[in-house]
Amino acid sequence: MRAAVIGVGNIGTLHAKILSDSGLLCGVCDIDEKRLSAYKDLPCYTDYKAMIDELRPDAVHICTPHYLHAEMVVYALDRGVNVLCEKPLCISYEQLDLVLETEKRSSARLGVCLQNRYNRENVFAKKYLSGKNIVSASAQVAWHRTAEYYATGEWRGKKATEGGGVLINQALHTLDLLQYLCGMPEKIAASVSDLTLKECIEVEDTAVIVSRAGAPVTFFATNGAAADMPVEITVVTDRDTVKIMPGAVYVNGVPQDIGEERYKPLGKACYGSGHGALIADYYGRLESGEPFPINGEAGSGSVRLILAAYKSGGETVNV
Ligand SMILES: NC(=O)c1ccc[n+]([C@@H]2O[C@H](COP(=O)([O-])OP(=O)(O)OC[C@H]3O[C@@H](n4cnc5c(N)ncnc54)[C@H](O)[C@@H]3O)[C@@H](O)[C@H]2O)c1
Repeated sequence: MRAAVIGVGNIGTLHAKILSDSGLLCGVCDIDEKRLSAYKDLPCYTDYKAMIDELRPDAVHICTPHYLHAEMVVYALDRGVNVLCEKPLCISYEQLDLVLETEKRSSARLGVCLQNRYNRENVFAKKYLSGKNIVSASAQVAWHRTAEYYATGEWRGKKATEGGGVLINQALHTLDLLQYLCGMPEKIAASVSDLTLKECIEVEDTAVIVSRAGAPVTFFATNGAAADMPVEITVVTDRDTVKIMPGAVYVNGVPQDIGEERYKPLGKACYGSGHGALIADYYGRLESGEPFPINGEAGSGSVRLILAAYKSGGETVNV
C-alpha cells in the first residue's frame, strides 16, 4: 500500500506521521510550500490533481479545509483511488449528494475520519448499549476557542469555507457519536447563535439541538466556554444511566472496566488517540477487502444533523 496526504497542516501532519511510521507514506501535497519542507525525501506537490495522477497512490488522506473535501473526494474516487477524508465529509446537501453518488459508482473505497468511534470508552458504550431500549440521551461540548484560534487559518469562521462554526467543526464528533450510539433523530429543532466571537467569525459559536421525532436526543455545544471541558454523553435506558466521558464510562455511577488505551494520543488533546486505531483499521480492511464501517453513508449522519440544525431556525425540520 502507498498513501499520500493532501493538506499537511495541523491534522495532515499527524496523518503523515502515522503513515510514515507504518512505511505507507509516498507523497504529500499542500498549496503552502513552507509546509512541504518537512517532507524533502518524498515527492511533494502543490496541486492535488497532479499528485493523484502522477503518483497513483492506493489511497489519499484529505486533510484540507472543509469546503475542499467534496471536490477532492470526487476527484480521487473517480480515478479509482481510495480516500480517507477528514471530517466533515462535506458542507452542503449538494456536495453530499455528489460525494455519495460518486462513492456508489467508484471501485475505490471512501472512509471518513471519525476517530472518536475508536476510543475505548465509545467502543465499550457501543457494545453495552447495543440492543438496549434507549429512553433519552444528551451530550454537551463546552470548549474555548478565541480570536487567535480563528486567525490560524483564513478558512476558519467563514460560512463559505468552514461551512459553519462549533457544530460542523468542534462538536461534529460528539454529534456523530450520539447518532452512532442512539440512532438518528428523524426530526429536530435547533437554534444557533454567536454569543462570544462576533468580532472574528461569521458562523455560530453556540448551538442547541433537540430531537422532535426518532432517537430522543438533546445536544448543547459552545466554543464560548472559559476553558475546554471534558465532553459528556449521557444515555438513559429503561434500566440504567450510562455516562460516557474521555477515558471513562459510568453505569449508574459505577466506573466500568473499559480496557487499556492501545494507541498513544498524538497532536492536540482534543484529537484523542483514535487516529492511529482508525487508520490501522482502514488499511487492514483495504488489504482484506472487508468493508470499512465509516463509509460515506456512515460519515454523512453527522453532516445531515448539522445541515438540518442550520436550516431549522428554531422550527422543527426533517433530518
Ligand atoms: N478528526 C479530528 O479530530 C480533526 C482534528 C483537526 C482537524 N480536523 C479536520 O482536518 C481538516 C484540516 O484541519 P487543520 O486544523 O489541519 O487545518 P489547517 O489549516 O491547519 O491545515 C489545512 C492545510 O490544507 C492546506 N490546503 C489548503 N488548500 C489546499 C489545496 N487546495 N491543496 C492542498 N492543500 C491545501 C493548507 O495550506 C493547510 O496546510 C479540517 O477538515 C478539520 O476539520 C479533524
